[in-house]
Amino acid sequence: MAKLNVNGKVREYKADPGTPLLWVLREQLGLTGTKYGCGVALCGACTVHINGVPTRSCVVPAASVKASAKVVTIEGLSPNGSHPVQKAWDKLDVPQCGFCQSGMIMAAAALLKAKPNPTDADINEAMTNICRCGTYNRVRAAIKVVAGGGDTKSAGLSIQHADGSLT
Ligand code: FES
Ligand code: FES
Repeated sequence: MAKLNVNGKVREYKADPGTPLLWVLREQLGLTGTKYGCGVALCGACTVHINGVPTRSCVVPAASVKASAKVVTIEGLSPNGSHPVQKAWDKLDVPQCGFCQSGMIMAAAALLKAKPNPTDADINEAMTNICRCGTYNRVRAAIKVVAGGGDTKSAGLSIQHADGSLT
């Protein structure tokens, strides 16, 4: 059995050498928060962190990931959705269908760790994930909320929620 360190635990799996990490995470380890969109490293739905680096797991053979490498999926970003990025996403109602959002959140978390106060250019460069629902403006706003320490005024965007309230 091969081994991976996922979300702080050593996990065993068995797969052909070329099997992408995404499929080991989803089908063998039951971590279905990471999504399959394109399978060719274009959409970002499958983004996880490997040693802190946002990585498109659909094109990384699981066998190429060392057992000592730290893989983090959306399930391991925080124990209860309390990561600042998750809180900002919640506050600004970022997700629509939600399919792309775990990848978006993992990409944003890595960006904010590397650059706690990213410029628009930094966000453009890091956030290349594709969202069919068009949540891009709220993704950008939520990243700015995190950079501003949770202050929604940092978002530079007035958001009307389903109950009519404004943020
Ligand atoms: S499923 Fe991996 S980038 Fe689209
Ligand atoms: S929220 Fe639906 S694809 Fe992004």
